[in-house]
Amino acid sequence: MLKVHINAMREIGARSPMLYGHFIEHFHRQIYGGVYDPGSPLSDEDGFRVDVLEAMRKIKVPVLRWPGGCFVSSYHWKDAVGKVRQPFFDKAWRVEDPNTFGTDEYIKMCRKIGCEPYICTNAGTGTAEEMSDWTEYCNLEQEGKYAKWRIANGYEQPHRVKYWSIGNENYGFWEIGAKPAQEWGRLVKESAKMMKHVDPTIELSAAALTDIHWNLELLENCGEFLDWISIHEYWDGINQTNDYANYEQTMAYTYRIGHSIDEVRGLLTAMKLEKNIKIAFDEWNLRGWYHPNVHTIKQGVTKEEYLYPRDKNDDNTKYTMADAVFTACFLNELNRNCDIVGMANFAPIVNTRGCIYTYPEGIVLRSTYYIFDLYVNYLGDVVLDSWEEDAPTLNVTSKKGEELKVNTLDVLVTKWAGRSDLALAVVNKDSSKTCSVSLSFSASDSQVKMYTVSGSSIESYNDIGHEEVKIEETELGDFRENMEIFLKPHSVNVIQIKKNAI
Ligand code: AHR
Repeated sequence: MLKVHINAMREIGARSPMLYGHFIEHFHRQIYGGVYDPGSPLSDEDGFRVDVLEAMRKIKVPVLRWPGGCFVSSYHWKDAVGKVRQPFFDKAWRVEDPNTFGTDEYIKMCRKIGCEPYICTNAGTGTAEEMSDWTEYCNLEQEGKYAKWRIANGYEQPHRVKYWSIGNENYGFWEIGAKPAQEWGRLVKESAKMMKHVDPTIELSAAALTDIHWNLELLENCGEFLDWISIHEYWDGINQTNDYANYEQTMAYTYRIGHSIDEVRGLLTAMKLEKNIKIAFDEWNLRGWYHPNVHTIKQGVTKEEYLYPRDKNDDNTKYTMADAVFTACFLNELNRNCDIVGMANFAPIVNTRGCIYTYPEGIVLRSTYYIFDLYVNYLGDVVLDSWEEDAPTLNVTSKKGEELKVNTLDVLVTKWAGRSDLALAVVNKDSSKTCSVSLSFSASDSQVKMYTVSGSSIESYNDIGHEEVKIEETELGDFRENMEIFLKPHSVNVIQIKKNAI
C-alpha cells in the first residue's frame, strides 16, 4: 500500500487557474457546427450554442487560445471583421471558411464564457505589421485606423487582449510558411517589438518546441521581449492512421510524461530566463487529431482521402477511461511544475478530440470533460510538497514495443490558499486492481470525502443516450491518521479533507 506523506508547510507554488485552459481552432466542426451555429434552435441571439457555453462555464475555462493551430498560418484577420465577410479558402485544412466567425465574435464568446482571450497570430504568411495591426484593433482605445475600425464595427471599448502568441509550430514542415530557426528569431523579434509598441502591457509568447537549436535562436534574439514560450504535445501521434493506443499503451505514455517541461525548463534555467519566461503548454492532448493526407507531401486529391476521414475524430466510443486517466496524469504533472508552467490549453475543447461533443439536438460530455470538472471544481489551488513510500509500479508495453515500468498511482497534494483543508488527486492506472493509499499525516477534526471518475471498464465512454463516465461522491467519515483509502481500477479521484465547521 502506498503511503502518502505531506509537508503542509512547504508549498511548491500557487498554480495558475490557466493550467486548465483550452484551445479552439477553425478545424472541422470545432467552430462552425460546434460552438458557433447561428442556424441552430439551441443557439443564442449571437449564434453561440447555449449548451456548449454552459458546459464551458461549468469547467471555468480560464483562457481560450484561438484561431489556430495550423489554420492561423495563412489566416488574415482583417477579412473577418466588419459587415463584409468574404469566404476564403483555408490552405492549411483545404476547406472554405465562411469568415463569419472572426475576432469580434471570438471576443464576444470569451466574454460569455468568462475567460481570457489568447490570440495566436499568423507568422506563416503574415507580417510583423499585420500582427501589430491586430493588437491595435483589439487594444487601442481609439487611436489609429484599426481602433477606429473596431469602434465603427460596434465595439466602443477595446477588447483588451492580454495574451498573444506569435505563430504556431512554425518549425514544422507541415506548417504554412515554416521557417528556419534563424529566420524565426528575427521575425519574432520584429513582431514582438511592433506589438509591444502598440500595447506594452500585453504578454507575448512564441512558437517553440524542445529543440535546443530552435529555442536558442529564439531566446537569444528575443528573450527580452517574451513572457512565455509555447510548446505542444500529442503523445499518441495518430493524425495519419487513427490507430488509437489501447489502455496499456496509453499508460506507457505516462512514462516521463513531463519530459518536454523538463527540457524547456532546463534551457530557460541555463539561460537565466526562468524567472522571466514561463511555459505556455498551449496545445496538448493524448491523441493527435486525425487529418490524413493533408500535412504530408502526399496530398489527398479527393475529399474521401483528405476531408471526410476527419469525421472519425468524433467517434465518441473512442474517448474512454484511457483518455481520462492520461489527462489526469498530465494535469498532475502540470500542477507539479506550476512554478514554470503558467498556462496550458487542452486541444481542442469542442469536437475533434475535444472534451465536449456537439450534435444538432445536444452535447455529449466525454470522459475528459469530467477530469476538468474534477480538477477545476474539487481540487485546491496551492500545490504542496508530498512524497510517497512503497509506491507500486506497473509493467507496461508501449505502442513501439518498449517494456516500461510506470508508477501505478499518481498523487498530487493541494490545499486552498488561506485554508488548511487539503485535496489530493490520486490516479489509479491499474486496469483491473483496486489499489489503496494510506494518508500518513495528521489533519485534526476533519471530514473526508472522495470524488471519483471511473467507469465499469477501461473502455467506458459517454455518447448520445449512453452515460457511463461521471463524477461520483463517497463520504469517508472522520479523518484518521494512516487511514486507508481504496481506489477503483482505472480511476481518477479527488480526496478532500476538510475541517469540520465550528
Ligand atoms: O493536428 C492538429 C494540429 O496539431 C494543430 O492545428 C496544430 O497546431 C498541431 O500540430
